[in-house]
Amino acid sequence: MRSDLRLVDLPGGARLAVAGFAVLFLAFSVVAQAQLWVHAGGGKLPTPQRVLERYHGRADSSHLHEALDPALPEDDPHAMYPFLGDDDATRRERRDVVLAWVESGAAESGFEPVRQILTDPLLCAQCHEDGGSAPFALATYEDVLPHARRGEGMPWPQLLTSAHNHLFAFAVAALALSLAMAFSRAPRALRHLAIGAAFVAPLLDVGGWLLTRWQGGPWHWLVMAGGALFGVATTFMAAWVVLDVLRGPGRTQPGPAADA
Ligand code: HEC
Repeated sequence: MRSDLRLVDLPGGARLAVAGFAVLFLAFSVVAQAQLWVHAGGGKLPTPQRVLERYHGRADSSHLHEALDPALPEDDPHAMYPFLGDDDATRRERRDVVLAWVESGAAESGFEPVRQILTDPLLCAQCHEDGGSAPFALATYEDVLPHARRGEGMPWPQLLTSAHNHLFAFAVAALALSLAMAFSRAPRALRHLAIGAAFVAPLLDVGGWLLTRWQGGPWHWLVMAGGALFGVATTFMAAWVVLDVLRGPGRTQPGPAADA
């Protein structure tokens, strides 16, 4: 292939197709930002904390957190907070003991103070004991553990489906934009930088999802860095390609382009 072939040398229909793709991609980028803002960020750009919770879940959303939420009305059948004691100060104190243990990872070594509350016959064990009126006992560490599990992040099946779909879309977008960019009149270093970034970024981004889901932080920073890099690299290439085609063939004879 001629090494000085440029986008502007393509037949009109091909130039139109390339520019059309790049324009649609720019529209996609704008909508992707809006989607990130509205859907993932809840009205603002997603914070690192939000990214972490999305993939890894929250430490403060176990069943015990839900059941011991003081905001639940006392007559709600799921409200267990009122059973923590007679006055609010005592209830809060005991709630703090239980939930601090859950949030610190619910290790067996720290279970004793929690066990004392849960197995007190005047408190939870009125009902949460074998043969009690509650559907399960809260007597042993093993009994309690399922209710102390942190809120799950994105379920693995959903995460893998999303990773699979996104990687394919990333690959197609990166290839199409990179090919167009490769034949644009951008300086060689800039072309290679943008093209390399467009292919590396999805690996960082999606790899970050899986690592964050599995291990939690600090991998969520990889998600943010990979996502941002892909956005910048592809948006830049799309914009460059559109401008390159629009600039027309007027200055298309800069001499032999020996740098390709
Ligand atoms: C008067 C009986 C009674 C007492 C006392 C009681 N519970 Fe319960 N608890 C229940 C019943 C019944 C359910 C099942 C509610 C349902 O799912 O409909 C339940 C459910 C739960 C759940 C699961 C909530 C969910 O996600 O559905 C947790 C966790 C829990 N209790 C913790 C506690 C703790 C901690 C205490 C002590 C502070 C306590 N309970 C005291 C009767 C009781």
